[in-house]
Amino acid sequence: MDTVQQLRTLLVEDNPTDALVIGEVLADVLDFQHRLVHAQSLSEALAQARSMPFDVVLLDLGLPDAQGLHTFKAFHLQAPELPVLVLTGLDDSSVGLQAIHHGAQDYLQKRDIRPSELSRAIRYAIERHREAVALKESRAELQRLSANIQHVREEEKARVARELHDDLGQQLAALKIEVGKIENRAEGARTAISGADLGNINDLIDRLVVSVRRIAADLRPAILDELGLLPAIEWFTDQFSARHRVRVIRRISADDIEFNRRSATAIFRIVQESMMNVVRHAGATEMTLEIECKGANCVVTITDNGHGCPSDERPSPNSFGLLGMRERAAGLNGELSIRTSPGQGFALSVSLPLAAIVDPE
Ligand SMILES: Nc1ncnc2c1ncn2[C@@H]1O[C@H](COP(=O)(O)OP(=O)(O)OP(=O)(O)O)[C@@H](O)[C@H]1O
Ligand SMILES: [Mg+2]
Repeated sequence: MDTVQQLRTLLVEDNPTDALVIGEVLADVLDFQHRLVHAQSLSEALAQARSMPFDVVLLDLGLPDAQGLHTFKAFHLQAPELPVLVLTGLDDSSVGLQAIHHGAQDYLQKRDIRPSELSRAIRYAIERHREAVALKESRAELQRLSANIQHVREEEKARVARELHDDLGQQLAALKIEVGKIENRAEGARTAISGADLGNINDLIDRLVVSVRRIAADLRPAILDELGLLPAIEWFTDQFSARHRVRVIRRISADDIEFNRRSATAIFRIVQESMMNVVRHAGATEMTLEIECKGANCVVTITDNGHGCPSDERPSPNSFGLLGMRERAAGLNGELSIRTSPGQGFALSVSLPLAAIVDPE
């Protein structure tokens, strides 16, 4: 035999007649048994929501201490974990739709509610809300996982860069010294070993040293850990300009910020990735990099004069650059936004709260 589900329902309604009618309709809903708590104002509803758990809230928008959409927004802000069905007047569907847009599960015109309709609305509201909460939790989990993967990758790159620079670099330096010794000893015995050959070997070693340094720096520039974010960005943009023949204008006014290691890495990688996008996708001749404080945020903006792309273009499933940048920004409680259209260049902006950037780790 099916047991009837018990629901704790909060009815927020100041009009006694409406409250009575809705209470009767609720009593006629046979799928649930309601333990009904009645509040007559927003403040009373919030106090009730704090004092005990509810499964669903029926919220009239016209209350003595709050009116219209504001009623829902204020309630939802304080009790985001509760599914809310908004009750509107007969001609008031637009405010109901706005409430849905702001997170209400549905709206019902209160003088026209039938038990079957109410029952279905409550069931869907609870179910949808449960799914939304599960989705939010799973998104938060994915975000933590992605932050962890990025952290591990970053550590690994730093380790390989150190090994390349310290170990391989040292060995190449030692090799060069040994070749130098042979060169000296061979001075008088040119028939045995050709001085030209030794010169070639020396050149090869020099080029190898340069390659090893470049590969190590591409993995993780030592300057980022030794001198910090802004010198590392200066170094990178200079290299970038020379390598790709794109003029980079820097407008950096963030000297006072003491970036922690995590935010320095995130911002450096965002700048690196979006500048690589300029080379790969924009066909630009010039770009501007701005880093500045705006209120309580540090804002990093990369703009180019290239051909841009449609602003609603969905990136291909194999595109991970923007996704990774967004995750890095989200990992610092920040946001990434893009402004672009065909022929109008591409502007990527990341806004990060200073509190997360300079937070001691
Ligand atoms: N500066 C830019 N100018 C024009 N289009 C751009 C620019 N930056 C990004 N795009 C567009 O956005 C898409 C997504 O960029 P994203 O960095 O996510 O992926 P990707 O560069 O294609 O691949 P990857 O995963 O290697 O970074 C690009 O394919 C391109 O169409
Ligand atoms: Mg990319």
